[in-house]
Amino acid sequence: MKFQGTQNYVATPDLMLSVNAAITLKRPLLVKGEPGTGKTMLAEEVAQALNMPLLQWHIKSTTKAQQGLYEYDAVSRLRDSQLATVDGGERVKDINNYIVKGVLWQAFIADEPVALLIDEIDKADIEFPNDLLREIDRMEFYCYETRQLIKAKNRPLVFITSNNEKELPDAFLRRCFFHYIKFPDAITMKSIVDVHFPNLKQELLTAAMKTFYDVRNLPGLKKKPSTSELLDWLKLLLAEDISLEALQTQDDKVAVPPLVGALLKNEQDVTLFEKLVFMQKHNR
Ligand SMILES: Nc1ncnc2c1ncn2[C@@H]1O[C@H](COP(=O)(O)OP(=O)(O)O)[C@@H](O)[C@H]1O
Ligand SMILES: [Mg+2]
Repeated sequence: MKFQGTQNYVATPDLMLSVNAAITLKRPLLVKGEPGTGKTMLAEEVAQALNMPLLQWHIKSTTKAQQGLYEYDAVSRLRDSQLATVDGGERVKDINNYIVKGVLWQAFIADEPVALLIDEIDKADIEFPNDLLREIDRMEFYCYETRQLIKAKNRPLVFITSNNEKELPDAFLRRCFFHYIKFPDAITMKSIVDVHFPNLKQELLTAAMKTFYDVRNLPGLKKKPSTSELLDWLKLLLAEDISLEALQTQDDKVAVPPLVGALLKNEQDVTLFEKLVFMQKHNR
């Protein structure tokens, strides 16, 4: 069982090595990196390449660890007991009918090994990772309502992603294999673009990439555009049939690119960029 990248996903050698290390160690792979650098897609692609079903758990600020295990739906049970007409009150007697299984439970009882994605763990509150330590470590948990120990039949392949909005606790980090997806260099980025737009004209790509990296390297940007923004932008350039000339500028100067809204997502960044262009024109 080895991951070697896929047709749809460009994995650098160090990323492949990390994925395989996590598989060997049987530890969760913690993937960090800027938004849009392919963290979520990595889990999807690895699962597909290794022929495993993927269970996804997208974390929000309100998500609690317990929801990944199970929830007891007391409200429905109370309602059913009051109505008592549902199959003559039989359903209400069995508490199992009111246990809603979370993704970890589903992953643990699956007959075949599955991949499990815990996406954007840094969105949750600070206690969230700690609350999952034991379950991830021991691959089991106890359901008090039904007095059952839920134990993993097969150890799932766990991916955890973080956009680095919050630090993760040390005890949690110790249990993971860590990989930081660096922002792709120009060559890797070209291969990524190739995957998405195999027929893109090379001159257009070169000009677009130059503009993209110019924008990205502008000091003081609040939000640097990333891979997914470049792909969106290219899609628009193609859809609007923007000419090569519109992207190229004389004497290597920076110009405000067409459809800049795909790259810069707040007004301060756009203003900053326009200022730079203005200053360059005046320095001629
Ligand atoms: N290495 C890559 N190979 C192919 N496409 C990529 C790659 N990295 C990013 N992308 C593109 O960028 C998009 C955003 O990736 P995503 O996994 O959602 O990023 P993240 O989860 O890190 O925010 C993907 O849908 C894909 O189109
Ligand atoms: Mg993501």
